[in-house]
Amino acid sequence: MPAIARRERQTRTARPTHRKGCVIAEECVALLYIIMKTDSSDTRVTQHLKRLAASEAPGARLPSVRTLMRELSVSPVTVQHALDRLTREGVIEARPGLGTFVAKRPEESTPARADYAWQSAALGPARFSLRGLAGMMSTPPAGALQLNKGYLPNALQAGSLLTAAAGRALRRPGIWDPQPVDGLPALRDWFAAETSGAFQPRDVIICPGTQAAIAAAFRALAAPGDPILFESPSYTGAMACAEAAGLLIVPVPADEHGVRPDMLEDAFRRTGSKLFYGQPNHANPTGATLPEDRRTAVLAILAQAGALMIEDDWAHDFHLDTAAPLPPLAAQDPNGHIIYVRSLTKCAAPSLRVGAICARGPAFERLHNARLADDFFVPGPLQETAIQLVTSPSWPRHLKILRGALRERRDALAAAITKHFGAESLPDTLPGGLHLWVRLPNGVSDEILTQKAAARGILISAGTHWFPAEPPAPYVRLGFANIDAEQAEYAISTLAGLVQRNNVQSRSNTL
Ligand SMILES: Cc1ncc(COP(=O)(O)O)c(C=O)c1O
Repeated sequence: MPAIARRERQTRTARPTHRKGCVIAEECVALLYIIMKTDSSDTRVTQHLKRLAASEAPGARLPSVRTLMRELSVSPVTVQHALDRLTREGVIEARPGLGTFVAKRPEESTPARADYAWQSAALGPARFSLRGLAGMMSTPPAGALQLNKGYLPNALQAGSLLTAAAGRALRRPGIWDPQPVDGLPALRDWFAAETSGAFQPRDVIICPGTQAAIAAAFRALAAPGDPILFESPSYTGAMACAEAAGLLIVPVPADEHGVRPDMLEDAFRRTGSKLFYGQPNHANPTGATLPEDRRTAVLAILAQAGALMIEDDWAHDFHLDTAAPLPPLAAQDPNGHIIYVRSLTKCAAPSLRVGAICARGPAFERLHNARLADDFFVPGPLQETAIQLVTSPSWPRHLKILRGALRERRDALAAAITKHFGAESLPDTLPGGLHLWVRLPNGVSDEILTQKAAARGILISAGTHWFPAEPPAPYVRLGFANIDAEQAEYAISTLAGLVQRNNVQSRSNTL
């Protein structure tokens, strides 16, 4: 626990309990002491780093957070504040995994004063917003706790297996030649075999990740202006894709068991939509999995509406409480209503950008053409690395160890949330996947809380971004893959402190 937090706690426990006025006065003094001390430490570290940066050449590496903490006798939070501030001011630059470096001086990075204002007039209004996607994909400040991430940290990735697989891949003859548009046959075989019989290898198109698959599907299967149904809340990145394709997002309420069939049926009837995006297993962000009766109902509704569903099976390998993965909804759909997407970026490493989109009938042809028009094919070295990886005898072992580590991290985060926010802030059954969807107390602003947490080096994702329309209540999505038990306790107690100090209240009167 950082020194400031420890000091704060000591101050609280050491306080006398005699007269009320006295206690308040002492609390004020203690708080003032902490604020003054924090401010002066912040200034000292900031000045120290500024001096260092000025004395070094651009690109020079600065001391690590740990070294600064030791040399200046300050907490990680204080160092982080100073680093954040200097990053914002453009004095230093964080390179994740590598460290912090002296940034280029302004005169070196800006060759001349240019006027680009004409471009906004020429381009007109922006057609879509990135919602929470920009924050999730941005480079975090050095040392930040990343509860906003949806990918594995370095330590849990298939690092050494990938290195070996890539080595074997690069030795294959013809690896740099053009590849088939739909992907290498061995990889199509593997993805098809993983779908519980839903798809044959001929139904599979290899894509550079699920994001690309979703974007291609929205463009290929609907026209600009068409309505598309989304369970609400839903994956913010898919909403950005839908808006970029000019589609009109229609929210369909979901609860802790996934999309509500009555609402889905009504939305299809009302809008005449022919497309629905959903995640039947371990949905991101809620973690919900559709129970059997809802699966049957959704399939019947799709048949009645003559509609297609994009099933995003992003968490296929993250079944943390069962030995086997959940079968996709597509396995119960004989008539081609479901287009299925899945990738290896989540369970192997974010840069193994290899995934699949599976479809039957004319939808397959449309998707094949869209992918061809997009970028011809996924690079041979990446596809071959993926085959070498998933067919290696060590792959199942990697997944098993990974699931064990994730389960431990999820349980630690859930325990900290239950302790500081109460059991009612989480669903009754903990989900698979990589995140917990946390209900905040009424009146709390998830966005203000997210900003204040970021200022303390704790990155979280505001629930608002995950709703296509107004959120019915305040939520945050907290990822557990990138933090251990101690970090979970620190992060959640800090969030709870922010909420209790009452300075993260919503300005709106709706929640
Ligand atoms: C639900 C969901 N679908 C798709 C993606 C895109 O993943 P990728 O393109 O890395 O396969 C993500 C990434 O966060 C996601 O959370």
